[in-house]
Amino acid sequence: MKLISADGTLQDRIALNSKAVRLLKVQDEPATLHAGTIVVCGGGHVSYTVAGSSYTLQEGDFCVLDRSIELFPEAGQSTLLIIELEDPAPHTPPRSLKLLFASIKEFWSPKVAAETTHYQIKLAKLHGEFVWHNHEATDELFVVWDGELMMHFQSATVTMKPRTALSVPRGVEHCPEAEEIVCAILVEPKGVVNTGKAGGSLTAPNDVRI
Ligand code: NI
Repeated sequence: MKLISADGTLQDRIALNSKAVRLLKVQDEPATLHAGTIVVCGGGHVSYTVAGSSYTLQEGDFCVLDRSIELFPEAGQSTLLIIELEDPAPHTPPRSLKLLFASIKEFWSPKVAAETTHYQIKLAKLHGEFVWHNHEATDELFVVWDGELMMHFQSATVTMKPRTALSVPRGVEHCPEAEEIVCAILVEPKGVVNTGKAGGSLTAPNDVRI
């Protein structure tokens, strides 16, 4: 996994509305994570326990934590994308991105795969060029899982390879374009319209869950 800033440079951490988005490599020692955190496993596998039940998070799974937990490495090194929303949430046990993306048939139509009190984790398949738009009140986190996405800004284009994350700052005009099919994870507050105020035929309904 890699984090990239809106100017295309690689980063150790990026921000989503001042919340930390960072990478965590877990190998020999357990790692402590806190309530309201989204964890996406980019490689390897780890385990954790919630209310007496144990869960395994493997490559291509994500979960949402409702409490502080210790993540235990299972074998070798695991690479995790950590989105520390610090937002109260129910526990979402590990879900498979591969299975969820396989169930999505439409392009540019984000589906809610999990949520916290204020945020949603949406999955979308992208193909072709979207519309120029911005989101006045919020940053928007894109994680490219499969495929290659061009994120056009007015000043530059950032090419997002698979397993990269980029946060589009609030108010910044952007236009995603996918020459081949892209599977993307979006994390943003509830109620955000995918086309901002630009509208048009690619405007998708909100709160469609998978
Ligand atoms: Ni957007």
